[in-house]
Amino acid sequence: MESKTILDYETVALNDEKDAIIIIDQTKLPYDLEMLTLKRQKEIWTAIYLLQVRGAPAIGVTAGFGLYLAAKEIETEDSEEFLKQLLKAKEYLATARPTAVNLFWALDRVFKAANDNKDKKTKEIVEAIYKEAVKIRDEDIWVCKQIGEFGLSLVKPGDGLLTHCNAGQLATVKYGTATAPMYLGHERGYNFHIFADETRPLLQGARLTAYELQEAGMDVTLICDNMSGMVMKNGWVNAVFVGCDRVAANGDTANKIGTSVVATIAKRYNVPFYVCAPTSTIDLATKSGSDIEIEERPSEEVTEMWYKERMAPSGVKVFNPAFDVTDNDLITGIITEYGIARAPYTESLKEIMEKK
Ligand code: MRU
Repeated sequence: MESKTILDYETVALNDEKDAIIIIDQTKLPYDLEMLTLKRQKEIWTAIYLLQVRGAPAIGVTAGFGLYLAAKEIETEDSEEFLKQLLKAKEYLATARPTAVNLFWALDRVFKAANDNKDKKTKEIVEAIYKEAVKIRDEDIWVCKQIGEFGLSLVKPGDGLLTHCNAGQLATVKYGTATAPMYLGHERGYNFHIFADETRPLLQGARLTAYELQEAGMDVTLICDNMSGMVMKNGWVNAVFVGCDRVAANGDTANKIGTSVVATIAKRYNVPFYVCAPTSTIDLATKSGSDIEIEERPSEEVTEMWYKERMAPSGVKVFNPAFDVTDNDLITGIITEYGIARAPYTESLKEIMEKK
């Protein structure tokens, strides 16, 4: 019997009793596979904040289940009071991280399911919340597979592909977004050569992407973030696929810090740069990249995390933005579950959202 790999575990799930969220603790990978059980709202908030669960779609799924658990704890039979308390829980979870729009999108969707059923008994409202949260989880698999199919149509067998951060299965429910063409291509014998940027400072590329693609049996080579220019100049990369945390109406895209550097280099060497974005990540209410709030994280992530000893002088100033914005003119296409948006993005993204 073949042994289980990381890909056989669900990134985020509800337990059988439906009273806890079970996640893979992504801060412990690749060497320790630890599952975390989250029951209290504070535990869910902390797991998102600490990146124990991370990646825009996975954060959305966790938030959806989180709001369901909050709803179950509300004791009143009065639906107006119920919604008031639910709103409080929603607002709390929304403060866990600011950039990935999926967090707010999932919370809004689940809250709307409650509000649409406000004339029913609170027990029935809770059931409607549960159904919506499960729907968000289930849809994610279809969404990623579609992105994979569209992405695969842009490359050919034997191609070299580069990705940044982890927009893989660990960031979603299955397939990932940027890795979806890789997984589907792998199933179909495409033999891609994949470069994974290590992704300073939290090393999602080294710890998560390199790990999950290797576990899946793909040919993956880990590089430091400052090596992507060389591998592109050498002609080893035919396309870049990255995920994203928010796409603005004009196609500017926030993704893990360093993505805009990769996009700039890709343009220099004529390598197509594709952003893989479920429509849940497209935020037409945000006009451009400058309107996207960029999360800043603790300086220790840069100066000491992952090192045996602190490696920077104590007291040194640190700037640690978790994301950057890639300007739309650097993006060859935005791959969604409904097709590929191309410039001018203001029109093409609107068309994609209308198909939804
Ligand atoms: O800080 P993280 O690890 O949550 O950042 C994740 C990314 O930047 C991903 O590329 C993005 O969320 C897309 S995941 C499909």
